[in-house]
Amino acid sequence: MIEQTLSIIKPDAVERKLDKEIKSFFKKNNIKILKSKKIKISKEEASEFYKVHQSKPFYDKLCSYLSSGPIIAMILEGENVVSKNRQLMGATDPTKAEEGTLRKMYGISIDKNSVHGSDSVENGKIEINFFFK
Ligand code: CMP
Repeated sequence: MIEQTLSIIKPDAVERKLDKEIKSFFKKNNIKILKSKKIKISKEEASEFYKVHQSKPFYDKLCSYLSSGPIIAMILEGENVVSKNRQLMGATDPTKAEEGTLRKMYGISIDKNSVHGSDSVENGKIEINFFFK
């Protein structure tokens, strides 16, 4: 089924100018980038975006990090793109990610793991709406 999902290129990857490589990786894997925008969000906005994680011990650090520098938010579209994007990203912790995945190739740590992707079609809609109202 053709789906949409939200992808974010996180501050560590934007800072290292990896956006072109990450975008062409998606395109090579038959994923369309429908919209893309570079923005810097506030800590309050990051806290809203990541509110599903508010009970986690890493929540504060996570929100500080996402708001620490420019990010690139994108709407991806393609066949089963939610799970496909998660496979292409690899495990949350780059040291556990499979070879050839974005987080294995570019991730620095579990916090600076270069990319975010929605975990379901439903959350994808919510996350797309957050950045592209
Ligand atoms: P992301 O896919 O953007 O969703 C939540 C983020 O929390 C995750 O990527 C990680 O970068 C970050 N994070 C930090 N510490 C942890 C942890 N211990 N377990 C899971 N995610 C973590």
